[in-house]
Amino acid sequence: MPRQSAIGCLSVAAVIGALGGTFAGIQPASAQQLSPNAQRGVVIARTYCGRCHSIDKVSPSQLSIAPPFRDIHKLYPVELLEEPLAEGLVTGHPSMPEFRFDPDQIGDFIAFLKTLE
Ligand code: HEC
Repeated sequence: MPRQSAIGCLSVAAVIGALGGTFAGIQPASAQQLSPNAQRGVVIARTYCGRCHSIDKVSPSQLSIAPPFRDIHKLYPVELLEEPLAEGLVTGHPSMPEFRFDPDQIGDFIAFLKTLE
């Protein structure tokens, strides 16, 4: 009996291991395609912008008049945002708070925007 339960444990561990492996294969695989900069950029976008703007490739923006970030590059090259982000992004966003970022954060954020192109 003890032996059987030991085997039981082993197979449970094996299943969990296999599942873990699967998840590691799916989720981080997409995260892995992002450079470390872009990954930090995602966090910035999610923290400061995600409650209004869509920050992924498919979902609509939470606030419907806020353009999804994946569309910004269709309006202009995303590098053009570097300056407004450093000086306080206002871009005619009446309902949007003013943001000001460090150059590092801006680099990360732009790197992230490029992953949506
Ligand atoms: C409170 C809601 C809100 C938040 C938070 C917000 N935005 Fe916006 N944003 C808007 C709205 C609304 C518009 C569209 C306004 C317009 O076109 O005048 C917009 C438009 C934009 C545009 C397009 C401007 C253009 O040139 O047409 C950019 C770029 C942008 N936001 C960047 C950001 C970034 C970067 C963040 C996070 C740091 C952010 N927004 C956070 C509401 C928000």
